[in-house]
Formats: sequence, structure tokens, C-alpha cells
Amino acid sequence: MWVERHRPKSVIDIKGQETIVERLGSYANSGTFPHLMFSGPPGTGKTTAALALTRDVFGENFRNNLLEMNASDERKLESIRTKVKQFARTVPLPGTNFKAIFLDEADALTSDAQGALRRIMEQYADTCRFILSCNYSSKIIEAIQSRCAVFRFRPLEESKVYEMILQVAKSEDVEIESDAAMAIAQVSLGDLRKAITSLQVASSLSSVVTRDMIYETTATAPPEELRHFFDSCKEHGFKHSRIKMREIQDKYGLAGTDLVNQLHRELENIPFIEDKMKLEITEIMAEADFRMVEGGGENLQLDAMTARICILLGN
Ligand SMILES: Nc1ncnc2c1ncn2[C@@H]1O[C@H](COP(=O)(O)OP(=O)(O)OP(=O)(O)O)[C@@H](O)[C@H]1O
Ligand SMILES: [Mg+2]
Repeated sequence: MWVERHRPKSVIDIKGQETIVERLGSYANSGTFPHLMFSGPPGTGKTTAALALTRDVFGENFRNNLLEMNASDERKLESIRTKVKQFARTVPLPGTNFKAIFLDEADALTSDAQGALRRIMEQYADTCRFILSCNYSSKIIEAIQSRCAVFRFRPLEESKVYEMILQVAKSEDVEIESDAAMAIAQVSLGDLRKAITSLQVASSLSSVVTRDMIYETTATAPPEELRHFFDSCKEHGFKHSRIKMREIQDKYGLAGTDLVNQLHRELENIPFIEDKMKLEITEIMAEADFRMVEGGGENLQLDAMTARICILLGN
């Protein structure tokens, strides 16, 4: 797996997340850190940061000093307690006086379990530092948040994803066209795991990675195709637009809700639709999306959406 092979080993090699890297870097220099909480969307560097920081602080044998747990696997808090207890009993690596416990997906714990975790954190605070990772910090009780230094990870900027893709391609000896790397940066929406995986999938299909391959393998329609749909609504009316829409769906393998969301993202960039109308179209799209999620028939909802957009655009 390229995502594992290219996971930065040291805090300073983490891409983006500048303020986080700076603060973690100073923990690494001082050789110690408080309880930490990393929150943010998938593939933005939370697990990477936990491993890199503990490696920077404990050295190459950091894994001996690190207990990794996944909260969604440890359904009973009792099993977390037992593991922490056993782990805390053994002596830390030479040169340090504490150990680290990385608890992934902490937001999967119920609030009762979090209440118990909070006591465990206190009980072992002298010898163990906790690093919690979650997607939504709002799902972590205040009492835990107030015991941690909280770091909010953001989706990576397109330029950072682009940079990383070129770097990985180079080291894996993959030939990639520059517009293909741009396409990866756009479709991955700031998720570097998704970006590197897309590169690996595409490179397994051909020796040169092209822009078209990226769109076809990531279930994403390229911007120009989405723009054609809006053009068609304006110029050719319902019948033609409906065919265009089905074509896009089939070619890129899009579920109805994917299509609506991608059209919505592109709507922003359509020059001939004025702002006020964009708001109305957004509402129409939101309704179609909601109805499909609630179980409304996909074809019917997409047709209704297309019909309403055609009417709005004067067709
Ligand atoms: N900021 C980053 N800098 C460099 N590589 C990154 C970064 N974020 C993610 N990656 C790459 O993506 C992979 C997955 O990242 P990571 O495991 O840190 O994600 P995560 O934030 O923990 O996501 P999840 O919420 O799904 O657990 C890493 O192995 C690495 O290759
Ligand atoms: Mg993770």
C-alpha cells in the first residue's frame, strides 16, 4: 500500500497543517507532550501525526512505548481499561519517563464510556499520555476535551495534494501527466489518503497516468462534462439534457446523489447563470438529493431536477 509506504515518519515531513506541525515540532524538541486530541476529516494526517510525534519523541523503537487501540473495536470500555492497566505497568523505554496511548476513532465511544475514559486518563496521567483521534470533536465530551491540547486538522489544499502526488509518483517510478495530478488534487477534496490511493489504482492500469483515467477510476465527472449539462439545459432543453445526464452517469459510474453533488460543486463556476439563480438551483438540487437519500426513485428525481433547471434557464 502506497499510503503506508509514503506516510511521513517525522513531524516535520507532514504536509500542510502548518500550525499543527509547528506546535507538535516543539513537543518533539522538548521530548514530552500533554494529552492530545486530533480531530478532522479522513486522510488529513491525524494517525500520521500521532505516529510521527511518538517516533520523534521515543526514537526508532517507539512502538514498544506506544499502545494503539481503536475505540470502535474495543466496544467494552472494560477492555480498554484492562489494556491500559497492563501497558502502564511495564517500564517506559530508557530515556523517557512516560508512554503513549493512541486511541483512534474516539468519537465511537458512548458518552458513558467517555466518562469512564476520563477517569482512566487521570489515573494514569503520570505515566501515560493519551492521543485521541476523531472525525468530529463535537462528539467528544467537554471533560475530555478540557484535559487535552486540541488540534483541528483541515482538508489539505489542492497545491499540497498536487505536490505530494508528484513526489509519490516520482519515487514509485510512475509517469503522470501534470493535468492528471491536478485532477487527483481536485477529486480528492483534501483527503491525501484518497489521492494517493487514486494514483496507485490508476498506475496499476497503465504505465502512463492520464487525466481521463483519474476521472474514470474515481467516480468523478470532469468539470467540462458537468458544464455541458448546464449548457444543454440552457440551449437544448429537457430531452437533450436528460440524455446528457444519463451519459455522464454511465460513463463515470455515478450514483444519483454523486451526480447531484458534483453538479452542485461545478455550478459555482458556470458563468452564464447569475447568482440569484444559482441559489434557486441549489435548492432544487438539495431537494433531489434529500429525496434520493430518503428512498425516492433515482431516475425520477434526476429527471424532475433537470426539468426544473431547464425551466429556470428558459427552456
Ligand atoms: N498531512 C499529511 N501529510 C502527508 N501525508 C499525509 C497527510 N495526511 C494524510 N497523508 C497520507 O494519507 C495516509 C492516511 O493518513 P492518516 O492515516 O494520517 O489519516 P487520518 O487523518 O488518520 O484519517 P482517518 O480519520 O481516516 O483515520 C497516510 O498514510 C499518508 O500517506
Ligand atoms: Mg486515522
